[in-house]
Amino acid sequence: MTYSSLQKTVAVLVAAAAVAACHKSAPMAGPTPAGAPMATAAVKGANALPAGVTVAMVAMGDSIFHARSCARCHGPNAKGAQGGPDLTTSTHLHVNGSYEDFVRIITTGVPHDSVKIATHRGMPARGGGPVQLTDPQIQAVAAYVYTLSHK
Ligand code: HEC
Repeated sequence: MTYSSLQKTVAVLVAAAAVAACHKSAPMAGPTPAGAPMATAAVKGANALPAGVTVAMVAMGDSIFHARSCARCHGPNAKGAQGGPDLTTSTHLHVNGSYEDFVRIITTGVPHDSVKIATHRGMPARGGGPVQLTDPQIQAVAAYVYTLSHK
């Protein structure tokens, strides 16, 4: 390896490490910053959040839901649209209603051959798209969706 190609390799590695570090430190679903005034009352169901779920996660999940593909299929108010079912009802098609099960279904998605309503085409794993949701992002959006049917 010539000196300059070694330099190039090192530069690429450093860039990759920087990207990885950035990715890790993304402020997704992190714990509530100490002393930050959280509007607890603004989040419905905040009094009954499952273990491990914070109000900050629900707020983060709200923005992920609307910024990502979810709102496109489930509707901007999550009350259902052509591509996906209403997520605000107390009865569910795939999940048992527990927070863990919301995490599970958003992680795996729903393959086309498993949909319960024939007009639906399925749900992509991890939100789909070129940049899939990370585990903390999935936990946040699951927390948000959980609150929609646990008011
Ligand atoms: C391409 C459309 C599409 C996208 C994008 C999508 N979903 Fe879905 N989702 C579906 C379909 C279809 C089902 C299953 C409905 C059926 O069985 O008929 C489903 C099911 C679900 C369920 C289970 C509902 C139940 O009653 O058990 C949850 C929760 C859910 N989606 C949340 C999300 C979240 C959160 C996102 C964004 C990360 C998302 N979905 C993105 C189409 C979509």
